[in-house]
Amino acid sequence: CASYHLLSSLCSSNSEKWTYETLMDLSLRFRREMDKGLCRDTNPTAAVKMLPTFVCSTPDGTEQGEFLALDLGGCNFRVLLVKVMADGERKVEMENQIYAIPENLMRGCGSELFDHIADCLSNFMEKKGIKEKKLPLGFTFSFPCQQTKLDESVLLSWTKRFKASGVEGKDVVSLLRKAIQKRGDFDIDIVTVVNDTVGTMMTCGYDDQHCEIGLIVGTGTNACYMEQMRNLELLDGDEGRMCVNTEWGAFGDDGSLEDLRTDIDRELDAGSLNPGKQLFEKMIGEMYMGELVRLILLRMAKEQLLFQGKTTAELLTTGGFKTTDIYAIENDKWVLRGLHLEPSKEDCIATQRVCQIVSTRAAHLCSATLAAVLRQIRDNKAAEKLRATIGVDGSVYKYHPEFSRRLNKMVRRLVPDCDVRFLLSQDGSGKGSAMVTAVAYRFAAQQAE
Ligand code: GLC
Repeated sequence: CASYHLLSSLCSSNSEKWTYETLMDLSLRFRREMDKGLCRDTNPTAAVKMLPTFVCSTPDGTEQGEFLALDLGGCNFRVLLVKVMADGERKVEMENQIYAIPENLMRGCGSELFDHIADCLSNFMEKKGIKEKKLPLGFTFSFPCQQTKLDESVLLSWTKRFKASGVEGKDVVSLLRKAIQKRGDFDIDIVTVVNDTVGTMMTCGYDDQHCEIGLIVGTGTNACYMEQMRNLELLDGDEGRMCVNTEWGAFGDDGSLEDLRTDIDRELDAGSLNPGKQLFEKMIGEMYMGELVRLILLRMAKEQLLFQGKTTAELLTTGGFKTTDIYAIENDKWVLRGLHLEPSKEDCIATQRVCQIVSTRAAHLCSATLAAVLRQIRDNKAAEKLRATIGVDGSVYKYHPEFSRRLNKMVRRLVPDCDVRFLLSQDGSGKGSAMVTAVAYRFAAQQAE
C-alpha cells in the first residue's frame, strides 16, 4: 500500500490524473499550440514550431529512378540505395547498410561528424560499384530544421543524443556538400532534406493514398501532416497543401505541461543533454522511458519499498535500466530476476506495474496530440467523418508489446468521428527521403515536358 502511494505521487497517479477528460483537455491544449506555431505573429514564441517542409505532394505511384538516401537521427546511421520501379506495380527495391556513429562524433566537432557521413557514403558507393554515377540523394535528417526550400535546411537545435558543435544555425546540405567536395572521390546531387516523420508519411503514402500523417515513436517522438497552405501563415500562397513537421517533442517547453509533469520528469530533465528542452518527448521516447523507470525504482528502493532497500550499481547508474527492459518486463515480470537486482516476488510485481504506468502514460500522451492533428485535418476538410491513414515508425511503437494497441485504442476514443488506420512503415524514414526525391524528380520531368 505504501509503495502504491509513492508510485501514485511519482507517476501522477494514472487513476486520478490520466483520465479521458485529462487527455481530451491535453489534446485541445495541443491544438492551440499548433495554431500558435502556424500563425505568423505567435510563431516566434511558440514552443511547437510547425515547420514547413516544402513537401507538397505525396507519391502517386508513377515515380521512378535510382536514388541514394542517408538516414541520420536515431541510434544508427544508414545509407540506402533505393530503386523505384516504373512498371506501375509500385515496387521499390532497396539495399542498405548501417554504420555506427561513435559517441564522440555525436557530441564532438560538427565538421568531423559530416566527414564521417561522407566517409560512410563513399564506402557504400564503392561496395555497390556506383562511385562513378552522380545519383540524386535524399537526406533524412531527423532534427528540427528551418527549411526555405527542399534542399536547404538550417538546424535549429540538436535533440536526442546529438550535440555536435558548429552545426546549429547552419544549413546541413552545405555542410554535407563541403565534406563530399573535400574528399573529391565521388559526386552526388543532394536534392532533398526531410525529417523522419515526413519520410515515413511518404513511404506509407506510396502504398496508401490516404496517408497524410507521419508518426515516429522511437528514440524521440514527433509527427508531421499535410496542412492547407492558407493556414501556413509563414509562407506566401494560399493554394494547395504542404507537409508540416510539428516537432511536437518540444510541447511543454514553455511551461504548458507543468501540471502533468512529475518530480521524476524534472529529475530526468535536469540530468539530460538538453535541460528544459523536448519536455514532451522526454515523457515518451525510447531514449527516456527506461530512465524514468530507473529513477522511480531507485526512489522506491531508497524509501525501503523495493529490493529490501538495496540499491545496486545498475540502479544507481544513468542508463542502467533500458527501455528494452520495459518491453521485456511488461511481457514477463520475472525477467527482472535476470537484472542483478535480487528481487522478491513483490518486487517483480511492483516493477512491472511501474513499467506499465510509465509506458501507458507515454501511449496516452501520444494519443492526445495525434487526436489534435486528426481534428485539424478533419476541420480543414470540413468533413463530418474523416478517413485517415497514419504512417508509423519507431522502436517504441514496433517493439513495446502493448504500446501500439493502447495508442490506437485511445486515439479512437478521443476522435470517434475519424476512421483511422495505422500503417507500420518498413524502413520508412530512410526510404522516404528517396521517395521525396523521386517525387521532386517526377515534377521536374513533368515541367520539362
Ligand atoms: C526528435 C527530433 C525530430 C524527430 C524525432 C523522431 O524529436 O527533434 O525531428 O522527428 O526526434 O526521431
